[in-house]
Amino acid sequence: MQILINYKMTTNKTFTMIKPDGVANQHIGSILNDITAAGFKIVAMKYTQLSAEMAGKFYAVHAGRPFYNDLVSFMSSGPIVAAILEKDNAVEDFRTLIGATDPAKADVGTLRNKYAKSIDANTVHGSDSNENAEIEGNFYFTAFERF
Ligand code: CMP
Repeated sequence: MQILINYKMTTNKTFTMIKPDGVANQHIGSILNDITAAGFKIVAMKYTQLSAEMAGKFYAVHAGRPFYNDLVSFMSSGPIVAAILEKDNAVEDFRTLIGATDPAKADVGTLRNKYAKSIDANTVHGSDSNENAEIEGNFYFTAFERF
């Protein structure tokens, strides 16, 4: 009998937002198309707008950093699309798909390279760990809103 053990810590879910710039610039359809073409399945999705208070809570981990106030103000400035995505190794693969935080440094073909204009308006969020994917997904969706 052969026993296979996978030592790499992987997960099959991540959380994303199409940020206010991505929605305002009419990129929702193209971004969702790129995401599904890369093999991610959308298992929850919501078009909504964050209040400043909710944006502050979502980004509490950045409280105190110089860009925090601008971040909260930008993220509550217009509608966003929030979604939970499923794929093997979802967190890492989605971070690769979106590219570097600063679009000027994002690899060609990544979502931020294709659609983003600045480090503040960087179009797409992707969870940075399995733990945060769980926390961020729970921030937006109840158990009855996932499939
Ligand atoms: P994201 O990683 O999705 O969530 C935090 C956001 O803060 C980040 O995207 C950027 O849009 C924004 N931000 C602005 N300035 C910085 C910075 N110097 N370092 C990291 N994030 C920044």
